[in-house]
Amino acid sequence: MITIVLGTRPEIIKMSPVIRACMREDLPFSILHTGQHHSYAMDRLFFEDLALPEADINLDVGSGTHGEQTGKILTGVEKVLSETRPGVTLVQGDTNTVMAAALAATKLHLRVGHVEAGLRSFDRRMPEEINRVVTDHIADYLFAPTRIAEENLLHEGISQASIVLTGNTIVDAVFENLAIAQERSDVMTRLDLHKSGYILVTAHRAENVDDPSRLAGIFEGVRGVGEEFGLPVIYPVHPRTDKMIQTFGLSTAGITCIPPIGFLDFLVLEAGAHLILTDSGGVQEEACILHVPCVTMRDSTERPETICVGANLLAGTDAAQITATAKEMSLRSRDWENPFGDSRAGARIVEFLTARGCG
Ligand code: UD1
Ligand code: UDP
Repeated sequence: MITIVLGTRPEIIKMSPVIRACMREDLPFSILHTGQHHSYAMDRLFFEDLALPEADINLDVGSGTHGEQTGKILTGVEKVLSETRPGVTLVQGDTNTVMAAALAATKLHLRVGHVEAGLRSFDRRMPEEINRVVTDHIADYLFAPTRIAEENLLHEGISQASIVLTGNTIVDAVFENLAIAQERSDVMTRLDLHKSGYILVTAHRAENVDDPSRLAGIFEGVRGVGEEFGLPVIYPVHPRTDKMIQTFGLSTAGITCIPPIGFLDFLVLEAGAHLILTDSGGVQEEACILHVPCVTMRDSTERPETICVGANLLAGTDAAQITATAKEMSLRSRDWENPFGDSRAGARIVEFLTARGCG
């Protein structure tokens, strides 16, 4: 039995190809949802959009400080796994769900597989970086999406024998859903948008949105980009950011803020954007895969492949720098290579686990 642990929006999306591969191969699996994300638009909507089976168990841990949230996940996952003792516990990415679930499983002497292993921003102030490093060093199977990720693991002394180069499951998720999204989504009509006629923005990283001057820089910067290109700026706002906008009393004038939207609508918005401005990990990858230029409003990225192929530039959060970087990025041709693999990452992970007798 494979236990697939997930808890947040990006984990639901990036685990979906693994879940589909298990279903195709008729492998027994269970879904353990920690409930880290819990609002309809951050959780259930993705199960519906991606036609995923219900989670077998939901721990409903909800939001809290790092200690509270991590502690609740650790206790809850330990209880479930000590009763079910799966052949392998799979986690994906770099959230508190990932680190806590991996720790619970490994202390029960259960095998752990880390999907999207080996990413590094080399910035330990990011909670995600701590979660990645800890998870990679306790997991048994490290599913590295790229050669750079594999190299990062080897540099940290992790054995080659536990690393499998798979590609990133986001490529599978994009291509399993893009055509469906284009057929079903009416988001362009709903928002009165035209292909290449708008700028798409997302921002939710704690180090950006919990800091009033960085968040103000982002808003001023994206407003400036909209004015520079004479295009509307569309921003589906993450709940963390929504809370901080209220807390700091920041103006969002000149930006079309909408609630977070489902994966199908978001894919269509990404594919049709003139330019994407983001601080998200997954959105940097998707922009690259969809050949839409991206500006990342951060000082570092754990997705250097996007920079290397010419699909992405780092701008930080200074308003003038964001506008200047957007101008530079929009001049580039969009013929870069996709560095994230071939849409078979989910299948490769499941084949590997089957061969190890984890199914
Ligand atoms: C978490 C991850 C981050 C990931 C992001 C994906 C950690 C440390 N952070 O950040 O790496 O990029 O998910 O989106 O694990 N909230 C809601 N409804 C929800 C979820 C959150 O209202 O369904 C609000 C709450 O006010 C909560 C805040 O958002 O306090 C932050 O949520 P949390 O899960 O702690 O972190 P994220 O910022 O979502
Ligand atoms: N996404 C979405 N709706 C939105 C914003 C993002 O479906 O309104 C998807 C996006 O396609 C990507 C994922 O959410 O696959 C990224 O999640 P997020 O930015 O929250 O987290 P990160 O990738 O930074 O961990």
